[in-house]
Amino acid sequence: MTSNNNRRVVVTGAGGFIGHHLVKSLKLLGYWVRGADIKVPDFEPSDADEFLLIDLRHFEGCSRAVEGVDDVYNLAADMGGIGYITANHAFLTRNNSLINNHMLEASRLAGVDRYLYTSSACVYPSFLQNDADVTPLREGQAIPADPEKGYGWEKLFAEQLTSYYHEECGLDVRIVRFHNIYGPWGTFEGGKEKAPAAICRKVSEAVNGGSIEVWGDGEQTRSFCHVDDCVDGLIRLMDSGYTHPLNLGTEEIVTVNQLVESVIKSSGKDLSMVHDLTKPQGVRGRNSDNQLLVEVLGWEPKTRLYDGISSTYEWIWNELSKQGRAKGPKPLRIETPYR
Ligand SMILES: NC(=O)c1ccc[n+]([C@@H]2O[C@H](COP(=O)([O-])OP(=O)(O)OC[C@H]3O[C@@H](n4cnc5c(N)ncnc54)[C@H](O)[C@@H]3O)[C@@H](O)[C@H]2O)c1
Repeated sequence: MTSNNNRRVVVTGAGGFIGHHLVKSLKLLGYWVRGADIKVPDFEPSDADEFLLIDLRHFEGCSRAVEGVDDVYNLAADMGGIGYITANHAFLTRNNSLINNHMLEASRLAGVDRYLYTSSACVYPSFLQNDADVTPLREGQAIPADPEKGYGWEKLFAEQLTSYYHEECGLDVRIVRFHNIYGPWGTFEGGKEKAPAAICRKVSEAVNGGSIEVWGDGEQTRSFCHVDDCVDGLIRLMDSGYTHPLNLGTEEIVTVNQLVESVIKSSGKDLSMVHDLTKPQGVRGRNSDNQLLVEVLGWEPKTRLYDGISSTYEWIWNELSKQGRAKGPKPLRIETPYR
């Protein structure tokens, strides 16, 4: 066992949204970090000591990724927003199961100390999420199973497989279920973006006095967790020794319409919403129950939605403005450092 300052860590999915932030934080804490992904980060170079451009659907790629490391943060996944994951069940499920099966076996063979798997609130049964006024979801409720088609089934299976490696092979595992992570340096267009980023993009591009399109009737509910809290929670969970699934999200439930209103308020624009009922909107209601999170980590996410969404809006507006696509007014806190 090495102390945190000289532990060697691999972050898979380091070219993606959460992985990129995680690499930054681990570097600031003094870890030696290897990033692994099929692509580099979209908006700025990675802070990783070493960045492997590899396809983790292949066992050889996974073996290279985990070689010589103490800790594995396995974030790599084929994923996107609701439009993408509901239109790509076959390949997305195949890709993710290959990545997760091979990452576990490669980690076992390499004798890594600790292995963290990033799962999702999509593992929870749809029959518990039919009402916008949803009861927050507790970890023990994932089974009996009825998760989201494709993406959710694969996440639930990979959680199970991770637990089997713990029980039968002694791998020291962590399993985290994210609830809607958002923040700067996330994809905001192209089909893989999620609701907060898509809404920030639409509001940035809208002319003051105009309207934006919202998927569904906007009365579906969710909670949203800022990426800084997410990364903080991930590092705490890795150090916790807790080997069972744990929610990582906030309990600040809002309707999608309220999320849109927060973005509009951050923008200083006067915009109306046009609801498109033909578009997918996912389960009707979903919220995180954080009782176990607080018991295990003595901590929970702190960022209020409005604060987190304002800085996310600033960042997306700024990115679009570089391409001449953002419409004024310029967000007030545009100079705020994100970290
Ligand atoms: N963002 C969320 O709200 C959220 C919610 C629930 C779960 N998760 C999970 O958290 C993890 C990170 O999510 P994210 O939001 O950063 O997603 P992301 O799409 O930004 O990052 C995932 C990364 O995995 C990489 N990847 C995909 N296939 C790969 C392959 N074959 N080989 C190597 N790399 C590959 C992608 O290139 C991408 O950079 C994922 O496992 C995701 O399922 C995220």
